[in-house]
Amino acid sequence: MSITDEQDIEGLKRAGAAVAEARDVMGAHAAPGVTTAELDAIGKEVLDRHGARSAPQLAYDFPGVTCISVNERIAHGIPSRDCVLRAGDLVNIDVSAELDGYWADTGASFAVGAVSPQAQKLLRTTRLALEDALAQVRAGAPLNGIGRAVERRAKQGGFKVIRNLCGHGVGRHIHEKPDVPNVFDARNRTVLHDGLVITIEPFLTLGATTVVEEDDGWTLRSSDGSLGAQFEHTLIVTANGPIVVT
Ligand code: CO
Ligand code: CO
Repeated sequence: MSITDEQDIEGLKRAGAAVAEARDVMGAHAAPGVTTAELDAIGKEVLDRHGARSAPQLAYDFPGVTCISVNERIAHGIPSRDCVLRAGDLVNIDVSAELDGYWADTGASFAVGAVSPQAQKLLRTTRLALEDALAQVRAGAPLNGIGRAVERRAKQGGFKVIRNLCGHGVGRHIHEKPDVPNVFDARNRTVLHDGLVITIEPFLTLGATTVVEEDDGWTLRSSDGSLGAQFEHTLIVTANGPIVVT
C-alpha cells in the first residue's frame, strides 16, 4: 500500500508493534527443550492481547499462528510439538498479522543456547544486511539499491543470498506489489516513492542460493541443507528515509 494520511501511519505502527512484540517475546523463550508449538502459543497470546490476527492463517490457511523454521529450514516452517529446539540451533521466527485492516510483517533468527562461531557470524551478517538495506531507503531511491546492499554485505561475510525469496509490498494485505529482491538487478527500474509500504527481508546461508519446498507443502529449506538466517522489518518510505514500524 501507499499511505495517504497520519491514520495510516498510526494503523501500521499498531500492527507493527503487535508483531514486533510477538517476535521478541518468542525469541526470548527460544531455548533448548522448548518446542516450536510452545513458541507459537506464546506468539498467539501476544497477538491476541493486541487484537491482531495471524496473517498466514488469514491469508493462506497456514497451519500455525507464526512461521518457525529451524536451521536449514529457512521460512514457512510449521510450529510443531515434535520439533524440540536443541542447543546450537538457529531458529527463525516470522510473525505477520492484521490489525484494524493494517498488515505488518517481521522476522528474526535467534541462537538457541550456544551456537558455533560461524552461526553467530551468519546471524550478525544477516542483521547487518538488513541494516545496510534500510540505509538505502528514501523516496526517489532505486528499489534495486536494496538488493545491491544485501549482496555486498553477504559477500563481505563469505555468505550466500537466497535468490528465490524476497521482500514485498505490505500494508493492506500480507503480500502486495512490488517484490523487493535481495539481489541486484540492473534491469529493475522501480523507484521507491514517498509513502510506499514494504518489507525488507534478506535470507543468507552458508552455501545455498535457493530454497526448495518440503513435502509438507509449506516449509522452505535451503537446497543444499546449509544453515540459513533471516531478519525482516516492515517500513514506510519517506523523503527522510524509512519509518520502521516493526
Ligand atoms: Co515478509
Ligand atoms: Co515475514
